[in-house]
Amino acid sequence: MSASHNRIAVMHGVNLDQLGRRPATHYGTLTLMQLESRISDWGAELDLAVQFFQTNHEGQFVEELHRLEDTVDGLVLNPGAWTHYSIAIRDALEITALPAVEVHLSDVHAREDFRQASVIRDLCIATIAGRGPDGYRDALVRLRDELGVAL
Ligand code: DQA
Repeated sequence: MSASHNRIAVMHGVNLDQLGRRPATHYGTLTLMQLESRISDWGAELDLAVQFFQTNHEGQFVEELHRLEDTVDGLVLNPGAWTHYSIAIRDALEITALPAVEVHLSDVHAREDFRQASVIRDLCIATIAGRGPDGYRDALVRLRDELGVAL
């Protein structure tokens, strides 16, 4: 498979720009910049071209999903709290129709009831939660397998 199927967008939603000042028990201590740098290194190891996006504005997240359809091959999504209720983001993901992996730093399954729901889960090829930063590496590996990127 050619390397042109190796373009991955890692998208962070609301409040993820505040990593480093959020409760460390759930989210660890890395800032978003440090997390992205780690994901970038994993991407290079896995022969994936990784790009990053973060916004606190739901409409911007939606518009980025619209735009990405033609520019990347797969998505890693951590929409933060929007995961639990944003039908707008769900619909945009459905339109985009790219293979996507849902990632959460914290173990959302073991937290409050309102975090149990994910309106994007059934559109994603996998959901990874509670693995901290390593969950993003797992997501990249899963997408690489899905896209058939040869090492
Ligand atoms: C989160 C979990 C969400 O419930 C929360 O609203 C977040 C971060 C996570 O990465 O664990 O902002 O997506």
